[in-house]
Amino acid sequence: MTIKERVFSGVQPTGNLHLGNYLGAITRFVALQDSHDCIYCVVDMHAITQAVSVWGGPEGLAQNTREVTAAFIAAGIDPERHIVFNQSQVSAHAELAWIFNCVARMGWLNRMTQFKEKAGKHRENASVGLYDYPVLMAADILAYRATHVPVGEDQKQHLELSRDIAQKFNTDFAASAAEAGYEDGFFPLPEPLITGPATRVMSLRDGTKKMSKSDPSDMSRIKMTDDADTIAKKIRKAKTDPEPLPSEADGLEGRPEAKNLIGIYAALAGQSEDEALSQFGGSQFSDFKKALAEVTVELVAPVAAEMRRLLDDPAEIDRVLASGADRARAIAEPIMVDVKKIVGFISSK
Ligand code: AMP
Ligand code: TRP
Repeated sequence: MTIKERVFSGVQPTGNLHLGNYLGAITRFVALQDSHDCIYCVVDMHAITQAVSVWGGPEGLAQNTREVTAAFIAAGIDPERHIVFNQSQVSAHAELAWIFNCVARMGWLNRMTQFKEKAGKHRENASVGLYDYPVLMAADILAYRATHVPVGEDQKQHLELSRDIAQKFNTDFAASAAEAGYEDGFFPLPEPLITGPATRVMSLRDGTKKMSKSDPSDMSRIKMTDDADTIAKKIRKAKTDPEPLPSEADGLEGRPEAKNLIGIYAALAGQSEDEALSQFGGSQFSDFKKALAEVTVELVAPVAAEMRRLLDDPAEIDRVLASGADRARAIAEPIMVDVKKIVGFISSK
């Protein structure tokens, strides 16, 4: 049986949606719409793996879920042609995650660097959900037997784990899958799509740290909801070094802040790093930052305005999510019927 190409990706509703999410993930989601069937999920069950203060409690979670949905639509994702929904509305994610909990090995999860970073020194205090996070992520993707997953660089290891889980399931259940008509293995091995010029956007305050929703300094990130003045101020104050910009890529070596800002400019202006450097080589940061602020505002401001417009009508956003969830369920439910049969669970379906 051949497997049709299907894209799946997710973004957590933990607030502070930023330029890294936009360039590293959301613009890639938009680009895949003409070539693939796409499912874009607001992963609210992943959001609650962290402390309640991080995701803002029940009201914060609902608000942030609508905000990510609005960002998807404002960026150009068409929720009629493709599927946009929030994870918790489709029970297949949790059901498949349980089965995958019994496929994934402790040793595999112990290697996950994102858990170590997020749990920090107080690992005993991290939720079990945070540890299990990558297993739920594998379930998200494979509940739809998705084949391609656009993500930023930081998700590469999690995607490898998803492949390992799919592979082990296929091996462990090869005979019963073949009996059910799946001779080549039940799950596809999902491929990461980590492409484009900005797969890892760094903090504006420290070019060695990635731009993140959870950085305590709001000056470290450009948020999708920042207004023009705020964007200009954050870029003006972004950390740099005293040298003028180089005209070739070699000159960015050992200058993480310069490399990051040039990368952001190139991504926003639709240029390569080399093109941006040939334009700004020899310039002082003060001049370059003016140009950077201009392209950033030009791109972010209309998206932010459209997000605000959409968020004025939360009932309409909830309707989009409900319709997406219905269509997501229609895909995942028959897959789960087969999964259960393959595992040996007795079922009336
Ligand atoms: P998250 O904010 O963790 O839910 O991430 C949502 C998506 O944005 C994932 O595909 C991430 O890989 C991507 N992403 C997050 N931070 C960055 C960043 N600093 N640069 C590029 N992509 C990012
Ligand atoms: N872990 C991803 C992140 O933090 C979000 C995510 C959850 C995801 N499930 C997914 C991404 C499935 C791609 C596919 O960025």
